[in-house]
Amino acid sequence: MKVFAPVNVGQVALKNRLVMSPMSTNMAKDGFITDEMIAFYVERAKGGAGLIFAEDAVVETPRGNHSLKFVAIDDDRYIPMLKRLTSAVHNCGAKIAVQLTHGGRRAGRVSKQTGCMEVTHGIIPVAPSPIAHPVTGQVVPKELSVEEIGELVRKFGAAAQRVVEAGFDVIGLHCAHMYLLGEFLSPWANQRIDEYGKTVEGRMRVVEEIIKEIYGRVDEKVPIICRMNGMDPEGEIRWQRFNTLLVVGRSRSCCHTCLGWIWRSNQRSKIHSVRHADADARQLYCPFS
Ligand SMILES: Cc1cc2nc3c(=O)[nH]c(=O)nc-3n(C[C@H](O)[C@H](O)[C@H](O)COP(=O)(O)O)c2cc1C
Repeated sequence: MKVFAPVNVGQVALKNRLVMSPMSTNMAKDGFITDEMIAFYVERAKGGAGLIFAEDAVVETPRGNHSLKFVAIDDDRYIPMLKRLTSAVHNCGAKIAVQLTHGGRRAGRVSKQTGCMEVTHGIIPVAPSPIAHPVTGQVVPKELSVEEIGELVRKFGAAAQRVVEAGFDVIGLHCAHMYLLGEFLSPWANQRIDEYGKTVEGRMRVVEEIIKEIYGRVDEKVPIICRMNGMDPEGEIRWQRFNTLLVVGRSRSCCHTCLGWIWRSNQRSKIHSVRHADADARQLYCPFS
């Protein structure tokens, strides 16, 4: 086992191979990182992880919020607190990443208490297709036009610039859990008949464009790590997407998988077998050298 041996992700040197998964802490306030969050991540960095994945940060608020206590990154005013987070974690010898995200149709849940769409402040959420998230209480989202997709791609790019300015070492891209980018990748949520749907390449297009947009704005030495579902809700494994993403990133990027987004709990064991049993696939698709 080389868990404690140094490793490079692109040109970013990690002191070991322990990576803390991104996990929303619900400690943000009005989109800002808080002192409580900084203390939380500093403790994790002191614990010895080589790379700390800070949670997901929203590139378009409030329409893309994923929760009520989201971290925002759609404006420069968030940078000073993000900088405090990165330097505090760096002082403990760890590297730090943040995950860019957009809630997509998952942002549109109606509160049982108030009957309102609190997460988006009442704004109808957007998605590749007007298909509601399959959990009760989710509204039918508005289908994004091609022009709106272009605007979102630019928002991801602008957010990535802030990530780098704030001192993060790695840019994360949240393409999992059936948030907006995961919805685009899914043949179940994405039923578009234009260039952003229909085929694997079509469903990949928006992620591809975002990666290109990011590398048009930030140094290509900054790695992008995409997180994708190991399995889609319909239960099919789609390794071909990883291939495509790796080609898009031309070895500057890597992917990591996660549980996926599921609504039938009996699929859980199958998904774990994808993550933990397929050693060849892990070697191929998590190309830490
Ligand atoms: C409270 C909580 C918040 C999470 N937030 C995120 C997140 O912001 N981004 C993400 O990609 N995954 C998120 N996850 C998923 C975790 O990163 C992780 O994949 C999940 O807990 C499964 O653990 P495992 O990968 O060790 O099986 C979250 C999980 C939990 C429990």
